Amino acid sequence: MIYMLDTANLEAIKKAVDLYPIVGVTTNPTIIAKENRPLRDIILDIRELIGSERMLHAQVVADTAEVMLEEAKALRKLDPEIIVKVPVTPQGIKAMKLISAEGIRITATAILTPQQALMAAMAGAEFLAPYVNRLDNICGDGTQVAAEMAHLIDMYNLDAKVLAASFKNVQQVHEVAKAGVQSVTIAPDVFDQLLVHPLTDSGVAGFMSDWHNAYGDGKTVLDLL
Ligand code: G3P
Repeated sequence: MIYMLDTANLEAIKKAVDLYPIVGVTTNPTIIAKENRPLRDIILDIRELIGSERMLHAQVVADTAEVMLEEAKALRKLDPEIIVKVPVTPQGIKAMKLISAEGIRITATAILTPQQALMAAMAGAEFLAPYVNRLDNICGDGTQVAAEMAHLIDMYNLDAKVLAASFKNVQQVHEVAKAGVQSVTIAPDVFDQLLVHPLTDSGVAGFMSDWHNAYGDGKTVLDLL
């Protein structure tokens, strides 16, 4: 599983990069707007935090393919490794053809149907981001859409990966993982919840208590070898 963090918050990114096997950070216009800082600073600061090896995804916002292409080029000028997110509108699909022809990596976003995903992959998108929770919220089946996308990628042998997005709870992440999606991007609050279990906490507390009763407070394995 490829884990990414869905935020532009520097403190959250710093914490997650330190703790978790995160291989990228994804943003969208709403996530960027929340930071209330210049876009240039946000992108440069995130890149500095995550280093050159991890992926950074940033979205275009224009409503024509030609201007989306210019936005993509400007983003690449700022960060040569950037992966440009493009929504799966008709202009977005046209933009994907133009942007991929420039050799810029693309994440197709705002995907709600497998057909949107298929066309985005054919237009050059490398990651395909279905919005799981937004589908679940309207009595859709976000997991099913993500699973069908993964199936289409296999069936047509496409050079693309599902990047499932928009999660509000751990069960949604688990369901898409079981369905075989290749990657997920998760907001920091849900990401932290992936590891939470009260029996893990009580189990670790029991180990510590037994250990310190036998060997003394503060003793680690290092003290005993
Ligand atoms: O970044 C795209 C996606 O994660 C949006 O999530 O929580 O706004 O539905 P959300």
